[in-house]
Amino acid sequence: MKNVLITGAGGILGQACVTAFQKKGYQVIAILSPGKKLSYAPIDPVSVYNADLMNESNTQEVLAQVIKDHPSIDISLFLVGGFAMGTIDNTDGSMVKKMISLNFETAYYSAKVMFSQMAKQKNGGRMALVGARPSIDAKAGKGVLAYALSKSLIFKLAELLNEEGKEKNVVSSVFVPSIIDTPDNRKAMPKANTDLWVKPEEIAEIIEFATSEKGAVLRESVIKIYGKS
Ligand SMILES: NC(=O)c1ccc[n+]([C@@H]2O[C@H](COP(=O)([O-])OP(=O)(O)OC[C@H]3O[C@@H](n4cnc5c(N)ncnc54)[C@H](OP(=O)(O)O)[C@@H]3O)[C@@H](O)[C@H]2O)c1
Repeated sequence: MKNVLITGAGGILGQACVTAFQKKGYQVIAILSPGKKLSYAPIDPVSVYNADLMNESNTQEVLAQVIKDHPSIDISLFLVGGFAMGTIDNTDGSMVKKMISLNFETAYYSAKVMFSQMAKQKNGGRMALVGARPSIDAKAGKGVLAYALSKSLIFKLAELLNEEGKEKNVVSSVFVPSIIDTPDNRKAMPKANTDLWVKPEEIAEIIEFATSEKGAVLRESVIKIYGKS
């Protein structure tokens, strides 16, 4: 049975990814925030670990234990992230740092450990990162400056990891959803046409396919999932 590690597995996209991978027979290793339990019932049992992924030493410690317990990790999904509004006038340095910590450092600290693990594995591995449309489309990023800046580092990280991963068969892709149809977004934008939004299940299925053996033929490392918007 193949293993998939999913950070942010307690979130909306996380839950959809746990389901999509379990449907395809994967063993899921879920990383949740400190003290958190899964708030939903997965199809099959999940191996749960808790870590503050904004903290590098805690991330290293917990992922070392994961690797001890599961010596081969085929796929890693780094889904932790969060959003903040703000134009340049009302975005101060502390907000930029906060967004970088939540959106980039969480992915970087986890990817650093998993990359070095996958590089040692006979079959390498696949890593999925999550970008955001405002990072590649400035029009969409106007009022979400710190968020857009922090997510833009994800694209560079994947590019650099792919260069380093070539010889080691470690492949990283960035999945870029536009607005996801989540309860929080529905609450924040009650008048929006939610038909235009992409569903978490749709993203999860694309991530599952792209990181599977069938997806190995894909040559695009940035996969935009914009729904109808
Ligand atoms: N929602 C959208 O419209 C949208 C659009 C484009 C991209 N994205 C990206 O897609 C990804 C998933 O989004 P989502 O809507 O599913 O978000 P979500 O429901 O808020 O899930 C994010 C998860 O990350 C966890 N997390 C936060 N800080 C953490 C930390 N320090 N250590 C460990 N875990 C931590 C949260 O756990 P706790 O709540 O327990 O802390 C939560 O379960 C994110 O990277 C997001 O930026 C979202």
